[in-house]
Amino acid sequence: MSWTEQVAVVTGGARGIGRAICLGLAQQGATVVAADLNIEGAKAVAEEAKANGLPGKIVPKSLNVTDRTAVEAFVEEVIQEFKKISILVNNAGITRDGLLLNMEDEQFDTVINVNLRSVFLMTRTVCRHMMQARYGRIVNIASVSGMMGNAGQANYAASKAGVIGFTKTVAKELARRNITANAVAPGFIDTEMTKVLPDKVKDMVKQLIPCQRMGEPADVAAGVIFLASPQAKYITGQVLVVDGGLNM
Ligand SMILES: NC(=O)c1ccc[n+]([C@@H]2O[C@H](COP(=O)([O-])OP(=O)(O)OC[C@H]3O[C@@H](n4cnc5c(N)ncnc54)[C@H](O)[C@@H]3O)[C@@H](O)[C@H]2O)c1
Repeated sequence: MSWTEQVAVVTGGARGIGRAICLGLAQQGATVVAADLNIEGAKAVAEEAKANGLPGKIVPKSLNVTDRTAVEAFVEEVIQEFKKISILVNNAGITRDGLLLNMEDEQFDTVINVNLRSVFLMTRTVCRHMMQARYGRIVNIASVSGMMGNAGQANYAASKAGVIGFTKTVAKELARRNITANAVAPGFIDTEMTKVLPDKVKDMVKQLIPCQRMGEPADVAAGVIFLASPQAKYITGQVLVVDGGLNM
């Protein structure tokens, strides 16, 4: 299947890593649905693709990935409009950092809900259509926090470790249907999510990264596009770490 025949759904596509993934897939020629709570941001990404004359197009849609009814209606709408979903990138995610002793139940539950439960909801709904089509590429955005742990991120690290376990299970269940499921685990990437970190913390982290810099959203998008490509057909259940060597 060529890129131009592919329909991708990218959650959290309005900014940061999600935006770079949408633009990267559109650059290949795919039709990309950018699904986000922030519809204005998603519209701006779609305009950007158009203004830059990318071969594929980006279609902005409003979605709260934690809302099961909304997820089901959204997937139905995409199928009605484009007939299939060949690529699903579960990228939407949040942080609510704090040390364990001070972490509120709500702080833990919200992060698990947005970062992990939503991946389950989206994947369960979309994979039915992929199974019928006997083709699919699922790429879930995890994090090195889910592999190494990170002080102040018990909720976030647990959600991302959960995403990795979920991805491997989906890979085992769906491999015979010609559907792959992989995770990409970014390290420290320069987005709005990490802009809130104090400069002192950023400088400290840079010292730990062999590449000596934070990653760019496009660095992560490159890994996602590879795993989402038709050529990556014999790669499933893997975690591709994009972290400048941090977690070596
Ligand atoms: N930035 C990093 O250093 C880094 C590192 C490792 C992993 N990640 C992961 O990469 C992904 C993208 O991160 P980012 O840095 O681009 O973050 P970001 O905050 O810049 O963008 C996240 C996007 O997700 C959307 N979103 C949040 N909750 C949503 C919901 N309930 N429904 C729909 N959309 C929702 C936001 O509106 C936003 O557009 C996340 O899963 C994050 O955990 C980021």
